[in-house]
Amino acid sequence: VDLTHANTLRLPCQATHFAAPATLSELRAVLAHAHHQNWPVTLLGGGSNVLLPDKLSGVAVRPALNQWWLTRRQGSVYVHVGAGVNWHSLVMATAELGLWGIENLALIPGSCGAAPVQNIGAYGVELADTLQAVQVMELATGRSYWLSAQECAFGYRDSIFKGSLNGRVVITQLVLRLSRVPAPQLDYGDLAARLSHTPTPWEVAEAVCAIRREKLPDPEVLANAGSYFKNPLIKDAQAAQLLREYPAMPHFPLKDGHTKLAAGWLIDQCGLKGMRDGAFGVHQHQALVLVHFGGGDRQGLMNTASYIAAQVETRFGVRLESEPRLINA
Ligand code: EPU
Repeated sequence: VDLTHANTLRLPCQATHFAAPATLSELRAVLAHAHHQNWPVTLLGGGSNVLLPDKLSGVAVRPALNQWWLTRRQGSVYVHVGAGVNWHSLVMATAELGLWGIENLALIPGSCGAAPVQNIGAYGVELADTLQAVQVMELATGRSYWLSAQECAFGYRDSIFKGSLNGRVVITQLVLRLSRVPAPQLDYGDLAARLSHTPTPWEVAEAVCAIRREKLPDPEVLANAGSYFKNPLIKDAQAAQLLREYPAMPHFPLKDGHTKLAAGWLIDQCGLKGMRDGAFGVHQHQALVLVHFGGGDRQGLMNTASYIAAQVETRFGVRLESEPRLINA
């Protein structure tokens, strides 16, 4: 099965088997079969945060649990959403209903099931702010159970699904808590400047889409996986030292002794924005995004990424970590 079009970086990948179960019982049957055949299971969502190998053994599973519905309790509105639902569609649908909570997360590619893995975030909001619970199915046993948001151990682009539950569960459903009470979060960048004082969630989502379209390449047009690197967290003391040399450096103190830097700025300062290295390159409007012009493979991308990281480390003494996840062959 050709997965080249199942990952937004368009890295060539041939998988031995592929399944898209549409119900929990179908998913359970796929997992049981894989277990019986001794096939490794690779989980896929929208393919917008993975570095796929050229050849993938075992079975690639992309849950097609595509339902979502609303419930109400004590003034809050809860959205129950299957893992296969497209994240951006959910954002626009709930924004159109006048519900607040995830409007800043418009146009993030990928599926709802993948959203908790890296705790997607943008424009001052992250998934963890509204997420109440996650339903998972254990790969080894097919047992289904719920995790509270606290049990998910969310951090910046991080969760238990990258840690102790990595490779052990499939996310099957999320519950988000939204609200009809206006709660616009407009502090990030020039978001506020683009909106009236009393915007609707739909207007906020549209403004976020406009900003993203200006800076981020559409994966349908130019293959990419969003930010290729995480924004690095460094010790406050190191940040202070860098700021003496680079007073204009964007920095966000986290109040825990660490400061978050903008990886895009660091790469840009190295003069790498818009650079091309064979099949890959640095996007011309946002240095944090690596793009694939076609004809490359995962090794080529990782070579380009290592070159960039080495430049940044030499100049700033800061190590960049990649954000998309490396999938084992
Ligand atoms: N900057 C530059 N040059 C660049 C890119 C950025 O100087 O080429 C500077 C900007 O001027 C700004 C700072 O770096 O001062 C931060 O840039 P921006 O607001 O574009 O955000 P970012 O830190 O580069 C993060 C997320 C994005 C998210 C935006 C908006 C990560 C790894 N990335 O990017 O998420 O959309 O903030 O909230 O945290 C993604 O994860 O795939 C993603 C796109």
